[in-house]
Amino acid sequence: MSAILEVEDLKVHFTVQKSGHKHIVKAVDGVSFFVERGETVGLVGESGCGKSTVGRAIVRFNKSNGGKIIFDGNDITTCDMKPYRSRMQMVFQDPYSSLDPRMSVNDIVGEPLDIQSPEMPRKERDVRVLEQMRLVGMNSEHLSRFPHEFSGGQRQRISIARAMVTKLDFLICDEPVSALDVSIQAQIINMLMDLQEKFGLAYLFIAHDLSVVRHISRRVVVMYLGHIMESNTAEDLYEHPLHPYTQALLSAIPVPDPRIGRTKQRVVLKGDVPSPINPPSGCVFRTRCPHASEVCAETMPQQEDIGGGHIVACHKFRALA
Ligand SMILES: Nc1ncnc2c1ncn2[C@@H]1O[C@H](COP(=O)(O)OP(=O)(O)O)[C@@H](O)[C@H]1O
Ligand SMILES: [Mg+2]
Repeated sequence: MSAILEVEDLKVHFTVQKSGHKHIVKAVDGVSFFVERGETVGLVGESGCGKSTVGRAIVRFNKSNGGKIIFDGNDITTCDMKPYRSRMQMVFQDPYSSLDPRMSVNDIVGEPLDIQSPEMPRKERDVRVLEQMRLVGMNSEHLSRFPHEFSGGQRQRISIARAMVTKLDFLICDEPVSALDVSIQAQIINMLMDLQEKFGLAYLFIAHDLSVVRHISRRVVVMYLGHIMESNTAEDLYEHPLHPYTQALLSAIPVPDPRIGRTKQRVVLKGDVPSPINPPSGCVFRTRCPHASEVCAETMPQQEDIGGGHIVACHKFRALA
């Protein structure tokens, strides 16, 4: 299997004005990972860690300041995105703000086709839109309605139908179920998994909670304050988390896996993610890490591949393992 997406040393910095001074926000500061064709990679970390910025940079809603984005073997870091828009899309946590309230569902779902294939006969376009609606569990009666007439889960279905109406290879799902009830979350996740199987889609599935991505992800990337802390296959990551940050995120899951609960100490994260304007020296996690020592303040730990694609960036993980 070859990668549909490769991200190499991606950097996204924003300039902000604060009390009359210019500051640099290092939202993403050297992130590398890949997504293989047809697989799901979960991207997790607390709010403010830079997850959405990574997603937005990949689809080029955000400009990157360094690194490379390779899509299906093509460097798309700075190129014209037009040929790629139909092949990669992003859906967001709050579909209400991304669905135009004045447009009917038919216009919303068909819009990417109307823009990218204006020559497509109307009949063919309408058939494709209806097909897409059925794939997400909606029907022809819904087409003439407007976004406010639907529940949160249905709106998310509509935004997924819209994202997939062109021949998609890769979808970034940015917390698509975080605002939904738990029972609806499972429905949407199962639907995404069915669509993946049918069409061989690859997903980057963003969430702030490790429990949400567990079921859907083959591999998981854990991010903190603009950096990757650990990445591994989902199965191994949940069984043997090595980075103290991953361990902390796992012990925050309300009903922990009993196997993890027995063998691992509970780690409680104190305070909030520090500001990316003024990140800690050395390891960015050290100010909240229960195992931090001098070396952690001095140098940034290198990302180490410890075998089987398991990556850890921590000075101490060997001692903790
Ligand atoms: N357009 C922007 N201008 C300035 N700062 C931004 C912008 N977008 C995001 N940020 C900052 O970048 C950091 C990462 O944000 P984000 O990627 O949204 O995190 P997450 O999705 O993990 O919650 C946050 O500190 C956020 O305030
Ligand atoms: Mg976000």
